[in-house]
Amino acid sequence: MTKKNSYSSQTQNKKPKKSANIISFDEIASRFEPKSRLSISTGTPANIISFDFLKALSQAHEAEDFMQADTSDGTKSLKKSRTTAFAHLSPELLSVLSRVDQLTNKFEIVRTQTNEDLNHFLPEQNDLTNRVWEAMRYSALSDGKALRPFLVWTVGQMLDCLPEALSRIACAVEMVHTYSLIHDDLPAMDNDTLRRGKPTCHIAFDEATAILAGDGLLTKAFEILSEPNCPMLAQQKCRIICELAKCAGASGMIGGQMIDMYGETKQLSEEEIYQMQALKTGKLLHFSCIAPCFISNCPMEEKIALVEYAHLLGILFQMTDDLLDAWGDEQTIGKSVRKDAKANKSTFVSLYGTEKTVERVQEICKQALEKLEIFGERAALLKSLTEYIAVRDK
Ligand code: IPE
Ligand code: IPE
Ligand code: MG
Ligand code: MG
Ligand code: MG
Repeated sequence: MTKKNSYSSQTQNKKPKKSANIISFDEIASRFEPKSRLSISTGTPANIISFDFLKALSQAHEAEDFMQADTSDGTKSLKKSRTTAFAHLSPELLSVLSRVDQLTNKFEIVRTQTNEDLNHFLPEQNDLTNRVWEAMRYSALSDGKALRPFLVWTVGQMLDCLPEALSRIACAVEMVHTYSLIHDDLPAMDNDTLRRGKPTCHIAFDEATAILAGDGLLTKAFEILSEPNCPMLAQQKCRIICELAKCAGASGMIGGQMIDMYGETKQLSEEEIYQMQALKTGKLLHFSCIAPCFISNCPMEEKIALVEYAHLLGILFQMTDDLLDAWGDEQTIGKSVRKDAKANKSTFVSLYGTEKTVERVQEICKQALEKLEIFGERAALLKSLTEYIAVRDK
């Protein structure tokens, strides 16, 4: 994947206004409805500054290659080789590298934890219903990135939330996301055969079972958030369930999928593409960042910053998804590529072309990082995640 080693330092966003406590969360969220959000994401790049994260990643790969070559004859210990390999890196790059390491570890921890928790919530059955559970497990307990659980855990830990509650929120959003992928891949929608490195649900099972597996995951998500042993106050549960329903439904992800379908028959305008992504991808990322606020004492200005951050992360994520479709590697990504152009989809790439999309990614990445400033060091991992999303190759 060709990436530029720089990104714009342009800032167009004003710092979130401090608001009085009487302003409700819904009022704040409504300021960021797709239409008004467009204004924060347009413009042209100004100064170009060095993109350390990308540089460090490529140096890390070189260092890892060196390390492997060096240890193949067994003459040196891995530890010594690693030290040698990294010796030529500058202190700045080393510090970025340690953030990359931290991020990789956290991704692994979250994926493992989420699979364990999903395994608990989606048990195999000994009766005739088992086929649909099997299909649900097939798609959910898989090799996805678990980005939404990652956001829930990272934001939740930043806000000191109860782990048992975070586990349920993380599983619920991953179930809804997985259901959306199963249905997205169906012949009536994107008609895909590869997902998360294996055959899509309707290929591995059959179309009817895949539809039911999606339905099963969607409804299970609401069950695990509402059942009596979910460790949240009744009011918190209602708030979170309502938010998830809104984000997943026709005014959220489903609405975005509807616009996506229109986008196959006509080129959507810039505004329509931003609206589509804000709904189909942005809303579940928004939920993942915001749900932990509802079970914490997070002050209003932090909530506002997280709403703004999630919105920008959503754009960033869909832009890189569209770029990966255009030039990514099928094996690395685990899903089929070059399908957007074939299906005549309206995407950021069809709108801007790849080069301008990369520029926009760099601008949005910078803007998203600025939204996290309010959290200081507490948001170190979220900052690394944001940088990773901008340069991801899967
Ligand atoms: C893919 O999401 C669908 C979009 C919203 C663009 P992910 O790229 O997060 O998919 P997994 O969960 O890693 O499989
Ligand atoms: C789908 O977007 C987003 C969902 C709500 C599932 P895409 O159709 O671009 O996702 P991929 O590329 O198939 O993962
Ligand atoms: Mg789609
Ligand atoms: Mg698709
Ligand atoms: Mg895509």
